[in-house]
Amino acid sequence: MKTHMRVTVLAASLADVPFLSLTTEKLKSQVIIFVIGGPGSGKGTQCERLAAKYNFQHLGVGNLLRAEAGRPTGQGRQIKDIMLKGALVPLGFVLDLLNDSLLKGEEAKGFLIDGFPRELNQAKEFERVVGRPPNIVIVLDCSTETMIQRLLLRGQTGHRADDHEVGIRQRLETHYSLCEPVLTYYQHKNLLRNILGEEPEDAIFTKCCSVIDSLP
Ligand code: AP5
Repeated sequence: MKTHMRVTVLAASLADVPFLSLTTEKLKSQVIIFVIGGPGSGKGTQCERLAAKYNFQHLGVGNLLRAEAGRPTGQGRQIKDIMLKGALVPLGFVLDLLNDSLLKGEEAKGFLIDGFPRELNQAKEFERVVGRPPNIVIVLDCSTETMIQRLLLRGQTGHRADDHEVGIRQRLETHYSLCEPVLTYYQHKNLLRNILGEEPEDAIFTKCCSVIDSLP
């Protein structure tokens, strides 16, 4: 019997709201891997490949939010504005969205959650609700120069509305101002696995696989 209860937070405004959803029982036995790193560090690229190899579900928080931002509603527009500014979408909304996706992935062997947590509060709130930390946190370490170069290159295709110089700078600022406490938090729990994100995609993929293969 499922013991989770889900209360969807549909805030008229996107002000922070307490996360009310509970996704618990099924998650206790599933692998949960967070993949974090700066904008353009390669989170999405690696997660797609890893999800295919390990039959994990890839939850790209940015992708999930972009889908919401595309809705022709007031809420959609608010999310779009926040994302265009390179700021963080409020915690309650992000967790609710994540919770929805976790519930839908009930059959998956595990989850690769890309772009989460981005601030300490997200890390703590996830644990409070799910009842445990992730199995591991993969960090893709990349220099600012490399990240900017990659995103400007992708920006030329017009693929992403936030891949322009100002948007990239703001995303980097958000990342650098909030990431340190998250890294420290997981380091203390011995969950951090740093991987150099500067190398070619295949080399990074091999290292990510070694990390996952070493899971008990
Ligand atoms: P999100 O969509 O996650 O954007 P991001 O963090 O800025 O990262 P990117 O998706 O741009 O880069 P990536 O690290 O995934 O690299 P990728 O593989 O794509 O988030 C967007 C926004 O949503 C945020 O700014 C925020 O507003 C909001 N948001 C997201 N999560 C949130 C949260 N938890 N809480 C609140 N708000 C949240 O690669 C980038 C490029 O580099 C590609 O062109 C790729 O082909 C290339 N590339 C990748 N790897 C390599 C390599 N090894 N060598 C050469 N090129 C490479």
